[in-house]
Amino acid sequence: MTAANMADKPTNQSWGGRFSEGPDARVQRFTASVSFDCRLAPYDIRGSIAHATMLAKVGVLTDDERDRIVAGLQDIDGEIHRGELEWRDDLEDVHMNIEARLTERIGEAGKKLHTGRSRNDQVATDLRLLLREEIDDLRAELARLRAGLIDLAEREADTVMPGFTHMQVAQPVTFGHHMLAWEAMLARDSARLADTRRRVNVLPLGSAALAGTTFPIDRPFVAEQLGFDEVAENSLDAVSDRDFVIEFLADAALVMTHLSRMAEELVLWISPAFGFVELPDRYCTGSSIMPQKKNPDVPEIVRGKTGRVTGHLMAVLTLMKGQPLAYNRDNQEDKEPLFDTLDTLRDCLGLYADMMPHIRVDAPACRRAAARGFATATDLADYLVRRGVAFRDAHEIVGKAVRAAQEGGLDLADLPLDTLRGFSGAIEEDVYQVLTLDGSVAARDHIGGTAPAQVRAASDRARKRLSADD
Ligand code: ARG
Repeated sequence: MTAANMADKPTNQSWGGRFSEGPDARVQRFTASVSFDCRLAPYDIRGSIAHATMLAKVGVLTDDERDRIVAGLQDIDGEIHRGELEWRDDLEDVHMNIEARLTERIGEAGKKLHTGRSRNDQVATDLRLLLREEIDDLRAELARLRAGLIDLAEREADTVMPGFTHMQVAQPVTFGHHMLAWEAMLARDSARLADTRRRVNVLPLGSAALAGTTFPIDRPFVAEQLGFDEVAENSLDAVSDRDFVIEFLADAALVMTHLSRMAEELVLWISPAFGFVELPDRYCTGSSIMPQKKNPDVPEIVRGKTGRVTGHLMAVLTLMKGQPLAYNRDNQEDKEPLFDTLDTLRDCLGLYADMMPHIRVDAPACRRAAARGFATATDLADYLVRRGVAFRDAHEIVGKAVRAAQEGGLDLADLPLDTLRGFSGAIEEDVYQVLTLDGSVAARDHIGGTAPAQVRAASDRARKRLSADD
């Protein structure tokens, strides 16, 4: 190849200088990321505007160049919004697509934008800007869901249902108490996301490729323009580590794990074998063969989607583990797991938040289920303890009473006083107060207990915490 025809060789316009030929078609397809990282475009533009503004401030660009760059980027933002920009695989990624389009629009000044930065600090910045915004949105959805659960808890503060351990009837609880357990899990999830956000909100830009730049950049100025709390301390670390993505994915996996536990209970409760709750038809689907079926697909799919989010966490942890400092192209693989996780969480939280206010609780069905299964056996044992019987002996006595009741097909509260006194002389007429379901729940009257009064107080506190949540 002569020097003359080297000049129009079909290599990449951003880095083709030292190359004698363009990339193999398959390599180009394999290395291109624009099909998915175009999602970063609005953040890439914001970052570039801040960078150009800073370059003009420190005298690397003229004010005129800055103005042309900023106006050009704003126009491109509009083009992207209107779906007019054609993303080109041969330009690899979102960053080079936008830069090439800028130069196409404004000429020479466009070629100066990349002064003092690299795609390595650029992509890390874009990702942090995007994640910061998404975390805020997800926390808003979490808040909406939590508010729905608190409302439901208050509405059903007196509704008695069986509490389970080992999926066996254990002790009666109130439906409201159960809803507040769900809310407590989600409150921690939200706090975890807020904490992660603090570490996300740190500016990598200025790290350039890996070692910093020779230009007199003003990083705090860029951080301030982009709303970052801090400037990353170390350039090698800032361009290469994706621990903030992993941390977010771990938070997300926990959110999904919690939603999945809720899903499991909803699926059981909706089953006619339980019949505790009903979902409106619009959140269910039918069977193509069994005409009677109304399937709880939304919770089932939420439970199913938990697997993919947990998988994404594993994917990015594994992606990171073998990487030497500093940037490696491996990191391009962080985006699809992250984006899919964001979309999955948004859908699942949004659907749950929409659905929760419409859950109808069948209080009599819950009560009937609690009445089967000797849920007040512990209350009887506690009653005996209050009358001087040692707990271990009380346990034994009640065990015998349960067996007798079971053989007679009765609940403990159905046994006549004489029969009960046959097990222990300490039992008296007032025993029936503790054997009732309402007596049982009302007696657990302390912070964290299931008594309706406590559920109402806990709902108040939860609502206050929720509104204090920034
Ligand atoms: N598309 C790349 C990524 O997602 C951007 C950075 C590429 N840097 C490079 N030197 N090839 O990580």
